[in-house]
Amino acid sequence: MIGRLNHVAIAVRDIASASKLYRDTLGADVSAAEPQAEHGVTTVFITLPNTKIELLEPLGANSPIAKFLDRNPDGGIHHVCYEVDDIIAVRDRLKADGARVLGNGEPKIGAHGKRVLFLHPKDFLGTLVELEEA
Ligand code: CO
Repeated sequence: MIGRLNHVAIAVRDIASASKLYRDTLGADVSAAEPQAEHGVTTVFITLPNTKIELLEPLGANSPIAKFLDRNPDGGIHHVCYEVDDIIAVRDRLKADGARVLGNGEPKIGAHGKRVLFLHPKDFLGTLVELEEA
């Protein structure tokens, strides 16, 4: 049902220094920072040969990653994103199996302009899971 690993997201306090670390120290291909006001984060994408890393910095007063950074002051892995073909069919199957979909249960348009959903970490081994329609 799930397909490729689209990205691993890392929450950071300072996206400029995090970008520099990946660009200069690790030698990766790092995008410009993009504020995503509707998601309460600023994002940077790092393109690796087989997947991407998404850096997330809080944006605005009610950022959904603010509490995560309170618990993880050095930053940390925030979620993993798997690609799916039909996000509605996958959502309905997971809900029928008892999994909890975050928010109102309807897909939002994510950072790549594609439909995304988040699944409750308590249902998936303590890991927040993002599904993105490929
Ligand atoms: Co993501």
